[in-house]
Amino acid sequence: MGIKNPKIDLFCKSKRKLVCLTAYTTYMAEIIDEYCDLVLVGDSLSMVLYGDKNTTRLSLSTMIRHGKAVRKGIKKSILVVDMPKNTYEKSPDIALKNARKIMKETKCDAIKMEGGVAIAKTIKKLVKNNIPVMGHIGLLPQQVTKSSEYRIKGKTKNEENIVTNDLLAVQKNGAFSVVIEGVTERLAIKLCKIAKIKTIGIGASKKCDGQVLVTEDMLGIFDKTAKFVKKYNNLRKIISNSVKKYNSDIVNHKFPTKKNIY
Ligand code: KIV
Repeated sequence: MGIKNPKIDLFCKSKRKLVCLTAYTTYMAEIIDEYCDLVLVGDSLSMVLYGDKNTTRLSLSTMIRHGKAVRKGIKKSILVVDMPKNTYEKSPDIALKNARKIMKETKCDAIKMEGGVAIAKTIKKLVKNNIPVMGHIGLLPQQVTKSSEYRIKGKTKNEENIVTNDLLAVQKNGAFSVVIEGVTERLAIKLCKIAKIKTIGIGASKKCDGQVLVTEDMLGIFDKTAKFVKKYNNLRKIISNSVKKYNSDIVNHKFPTKKNIY
């Protein structure tokens, strides 16, 4: 069950920490590609771009539309597209049909699916059919409908066992990598010890082989974010100040200037 994609091969063999971010548009992809190993068209797009309360209502066609847009901006990174909720859970055959559609239309390198034990047969089927799969375990946003359900996993022995079994299922069935989201540091360390595939953390300690964040979160578009987000800028403020200046220029007849007219 070898992966035939040389970029994925390099990713799996990397000796340094792996850098991953999300993108939903061509130009964001173009900007981040240079500094990333992997760009994810995550289903977080439904919350970030469309203002939805959760990720559960995203359609396959919207995901593909954004996957195609991001493809245009990427030269070197691995491009992974999330399978939206209700496009893969029912049966391995349905998942294969939808994964093939995503791969064909977006020309992505791999797809990502949430879950472990529950989708083990599906992961196996996709990998057998040469579709590289990235797993996603721990906190599973597609199963969250209320903000109170965004809870860190691994605080009880039972939760630790569930997530550990999910990792083993994802790994055994041929995923090349796994996102570990929102788990206690203790569980993250345990998972990283067991993992033979690349672990990409989001709220899962620095023991993981790499990290992923939602780009808009780390750029500071939102006031409120999870504790695991580090904000590298305050884009909300930068945009607001720029628009304030634009407003003032127009109101005070300072724009357009001679430079801007024909
Ligand atoms: O949808 C998404 O953006 C994700 C990442 C946060 C891992 O799954």
